[in-house]
Amino acid sequence: MQLTDYEKQMRDGDHGAAKARAMDLLIRYGEALGAERLVETNNVAGTWAVANPILKDFAKSMDAVFSEFNLDSDEIVETPAVETYAVQLIQGIDPASPEMRANTGDAAESQQAGEKYFGKRGVAMMSTCTPYQVGNVPVFGEHCAWMESSAVVYCNGVLGARTNTEGRESTGAASITRRIPYWGYHLPENRLGTHLVDVEVEIDDIMDWGMLGYWLGYEVEEDIPVIAGRHRKPNQIKLKHFGAAAASSGGVEMFHVPGTTPEARTMEEALGPRKPVATLRYGDRERRDTFELLNSNASDTQLDFVMLGCPHNSLEQMVRIVRALEDRTISANSALWVFTPRALKLVSDANGYTEIIEKAGGRVYVDTCPAISRQMPKGTKVVAVDSAKQAHYLPAITGAQCWFGTVEECVDGAVTGQWKGRLS
Ligand code: F3S
Repeated sequence: MQLTDYEKQMRDGDHGAAKARAMDLLIRYGEALGAERLVETNNVAGTWAVANPILKDFAKSMDAVFSEFNLDSDEIVETPAVETYAVQLIQGIDPASPEMRANTGDAAESQQAGEKYFGKRGVAMMSTCTPYQVGNVPVFGEHCAWMESSAVVYCNGVLGARTNTEGRESTGAASITRRIPYWGYHLPENRLGTHLVDVEVEIDDIMDWGMLGYWLGYEVEEDIPVIAGRHRKPNQIKLKHFGAAAASSGGVEMFHVPGTTPEARTMEEALGPRKPVATLRYGDRERRDTFELLNSNASDTQLDFVMLGCPHNSLEQMVRIVRALEDRTISANSALWVFTPRALKLVSDANGYTEIIEKAGGRVYVDTCPAISRQMPKGTKVVAVDSAKQAHYLPAITGAQCWFGTVEECVDGAVTGQWKGRLS
């Protein structure tokens, strides 16, 4: 791999042991991928390792977990401050939730100690899978190093910034060296569309964009779809659900919606000089099959739990939930948990949305989600969600039956304790 003089100095330890270990990792990783060089980045979204604060020498323990989990280093190095804008993604639990704290031992204390430790070293502890909703909005063409599949596909497809799906180690190394291997989606020629998707049925709601993404992920796997046809112009929330779903059933990291996403002002720009390898049609049959697939593991209509906020909810989605509640209360036999970034919960609190949801008997949580925390109300056997991504993962992780539908169907299910969703 070609290195600049400064990169060679970092590799050789002239700028400290941590940077030397980070460069060792980035060179090994880049060479395995066939990258010829590194590229500068000032934008990292990752997860930083934590240790239990009651350990005798907490700082040494943090150095040990940072070295192993954020740098892939057997040698223990002192944890340095980050040198990029660096944002913490989702975490293990919501420390303010008594229900989660009761089931997770010392996890809350470890998480909070880790936040202070890395916060002091410059990591912005946003604790969400949607950093782009809370201020981390890279500019067009900016080279980033992001983890979290739903955030990566949003970063590439919706923002036109450039990232591969990184890991905890590569983001840790990038955050202290300002470098990441130059390969994959950093190269403009790898960002062109491969498959043309003709949407033959009119789609508009969040649920429909989620279903389209979920269907497409199976069809194109890791390729790049270009969406055309009868869809209405999607907004941020619909593209968030579309990408999250496509990155769950498949490995989609990039997509184009000509006329909407920034690298596809036209169809020609989306596809470049190449012809699409295939044209896929999404019509009534595909839509119905996808709906049935997403609801295929559920049969009991008595609902124990409704989860909303995967990926984490925007404020607009919080308003939609409040409106759907219509002053009703959650059934005594069910539960409603809503997930949003901690920064947006502050606004939700100030605007009264949290109070309305909690007065109805629901909860507003931050920092995590059931798929990550594995926390649901005790005894939950049947869940309903508005997210194709959560419907994909939650049954596999928890064994629960899972219904998929609109926000309004989910809220109604929490109020009545009964699932009545259907495809309109
Ligand atoms: Fe976020 Fe959890 Fe969904 S991490 S994208 S809310 S599975």
